[in-house]
Amino acid sequence: MHDIHPPRTIVLTGDRITGPLHLGHYIGSLRQRLKLQNEAQQYILMADMQGLTDNGATPEKVSSFLFDVAADYLSVGIDPAKSTLCLQSALPALSELTLLYLNLVTVSRLERNPTVKSEIQQKNLSRALPAGFLIYPVSQAADITAFSADIVPVGEDQLPMIEQTNEIVSKINHLTGKNILKPCRAIVGSVGRLPGSDGNGKMSKSLGNTINLSSTADAIQQAVYSMYTDPHHVNISDPGKVEGNVVFTYLDAFCEDKLLVQEMKENYRRGGLGDVKCKAMLNDILQSLLQPIREERQRLINDKAYLLNVIEQGTRQAREVTQRKLNELKSALRLLIID
Ligand code: TRP
Repeated sequence: MHDIHPPRTIVLTGDRITGPLHLGHYIGSLRQRLKLQNEAQQYILMADMQGLTDNGATPEKVSSFLFDVAADYLSVGIDPAKSTLCLQSALPALSELTLLYLNLVTVSRLERNPTVKSEIQQKNLSRALPAGFLIYPVSQAADITAFSADIVPVGEDQLPMIEQTNEIVSKINHLTGKNILKPCRAIVGSVGRLPGSDGNGKMSKSLGNTINLSSTADAIQQAVYSMYTDPHHVNISDPGKVEGNVVFTYLDAFCEDKLLVQEMKENYRRGGLGDVKCKAMLNDILQSLLQPIREERQRLINDKAYLLNVIEQGTRQAREVTQRKLNELKSALRLLIID
């Protein structure tokens, strides 16, 4: 009997491992993954090697979060029976592909990558730029092509990585005269970046403005009540600004009742709705979203053997897939394959 099922769409997503996951991840990518795991073959790459590209001298900043991130995934409903969790550093084919691709990428092309450029500035790396950091888009291209991903769900800032990946795909395919590598398509979520609770840029651990999936009820409340609103909205009766007001940005992202948010915005703009009332409502919403996640997460983190098993199983499966792709490429490049 022939397999009559059409091939499933392959999705690769991943996170640089540098800390526990937060609400920004939840709204930006985790929710989408919950949906995609029912529709496609989804791999979730725990990108610890990429985490090391700017933590080379402090590897514990990466390794200490592996179980946290795995628990984060599972606690929101990522199902290991549907999504394959895998560990980048345990997939040697990814490193080998990176080295092969690097021969086809110029240094000036790497230096032009806008995301890398702005990260170098943000992280203040310009005076001592690790070579591994400069080339991480190539390692990401290795990730994506090793799994033959059709679709890569990413934030806006990752689009240059996809572009660079597809450049490498055409070069390799041209070079080998075969369609060895599959071009991929990015899908960018409909919600933009969630700002940090202080209103300063994006939510990011290094800025200390995150609400983590693991945050305690007190920490959530504290973050919500100290959120940046409109500094000119002093008295309840003053007209207030909704744009740039973090509380409303979060209500937009997390409140299901869109009409209610609309009404609140009108009241706020007109004058007559106080910050405390808005914050109390947001706090309620976030508490009821995060409480069950936190409890499940706590249960999981106490069962390290289970988490390890999930990571190991997924990584073994991913190892096969990625090794096969590497061998295909090696043989197209007429390199000797010795098992
Ligand atoms: N660069 C991604 C991020 O910071 C993480 C990542 C690594 C990734 N490899 C990937 C994402 C492959 C998608 C596909 O979020």
